[in-house]
Amino acid sequence: MTEKQTWSQRFESALHPAIARFNASISFDIELIEYDITGSQAHAKMLAHTGIISHEEGEALFNGLEQVRQEYRQGQFQPGVDAEDVHFAVEKRLTEIVGDVGKKLHTARSRNDQVGTDTRLYLRDQIQQIRQQLRNWQTVLVDIAEKNVETLIPGYTHLQRAQPVSLAHHLLAYFQMAQRDWERLEDVYSRVNISPLGCGALAGTTFPINRHYTANLLHFDNVYANSLDGVSDRDFAIEFLCAASIIMVHLSRLSEEIILWASEEFRFITLKDSCATGSSIMPQKKNPDVPELVRGKTGRVFGHLQAMLVIMKGLPLAYNKDLQEDKEGIFDSVNTVKACLEAMTILLQEGLEFRHQRLATAVTEDFANATDVADYLAARGVPFREAYNIVGKVVKTSIIAGKLLKDLQLEEWQQIHPAFAADIYEAITPRQVVAARNSYGGTGFEQVRQAILNARTQLSVK
Ligand code: ARG
Repeated sequence: MTEKQTWSQRFESALHPAIARFNASISFDIELIEYDITGSQAHAKMLAHTGIISHEEGEALFNGLEQVRQEYRQGQFQPGVDAEDVHFAVEKRLTEIVGDVGKKLHTARSRNDQVGTDTRLYLRDQIQQIRQQLRNWQTVLVDIAEKNVETLIPGYTHLQRAQPVSLAHHLLAYFQMAQRDWERLEDVYSRVNISPLGCGALAGTTFPINRHYTANLLHFDNVYANSLDGVSDRDFAIEFLCAASIIMVHLSRLSEEIILWASEEFRFITLKDSCATGSSIMPQKKNPDVPELVRGKTGRVFGHLQAMLVIMKGLPLAYNKDLQEDKEGIFDSVNTVKACLEAMTILLQEGLEFRHQRLATAVTEDFANATDVADYLAARGVPFREAYNIVGKVVKTSIIAGKLLKDLQLEEWQQIHPAFAADIYEAITPRQVVAARNSYGGTGFEQVRQAILNARTQLSVK
């Protein structure tokens, strides 16, 4: 170890270099540097405001910290492993710049409340960025939906053709998921946005600090009511990771569909060259790497959630060094969610094309209109369960005859049940089958048009 640690007076010998590396978080918590500086500036102002230090000292600290920020931005200040963590690094550089007054910055606080403050400031910013990305994602979904209200696509249950739906309806399902994600993050934000600054190491401080003053400066909604809780709570991180995981679930589900749709078996979409890759050996291939990566990256975000839960479950109050392990998972989840949202938005916006001809054929080549035949009879007085059995027989007969329902002669229909009339043919066209599902939230075109209007209204909420 080249340099003495901040706490080294208490110790006989220097830290083993490997242990110093093991202990250090600077390689990753450097991500927090600007938040650390902002938090420290608020703390310095509060120290001066309450008379714990003089106004001149407060100003020197504030300006010195600003200089550290500029040096960092310009690449002149690059703390190494000697610094242990970002908090020591900033304080040390500050003291080099402003002299001994720099040593007053840490009055009435601890790295424990400091790191909690930094992490919350970071996450607050990131949550707002992700929410904005969700808005872009939702906008693309509605834009495509708007152009495809009357594009039909097979709808599935058990991955078996079930009933055709409007493609817009299908895409709007993902819009709704993203809407919940957006709202969920707002809710998470409210619990991220509470200040632990001033909780000290664990028990508060002997100095006459003003926690609400720093909370106001840093735009926190509230302060932690209990210092032990304030320094050791990571619920906000767990909640964020949970919200991030749910976003990934949603992106991953659509990814899986896109991968299926692009396959030769479905052929519902074509991937454009800008968002697909080739194979190194099979010249005919075009691979859906983007949705595959999104699906794959989902695992690591789930992993970070799991890790955070496990980190917390056995921790006695208050701060324990285990908590240093919260950061990499949070950072990686933030970066992963942002990268995936960006890639998926581009993919949908310009990376794929729906094959309209193929979709139009797909919805006519099966028995996905069988429910509509049963509904037809039920609407004419046949009890639904009875109608269901009758249509079961119709489907069976048709399959044996190698026909689709639309190819049955009217006499064949009427032999099965006298309630069938010539209008059965219209009732079972894919278009009519979809249009008729006009119940609230259903795929009927009228419903879907209304859903698009509603989605636009939801999007107008910032
Ligand atoms: N690097 C530490 C972390 O990330 C900062 C807090 C250290 N506190 C302490 N008491 N050692 O958690």
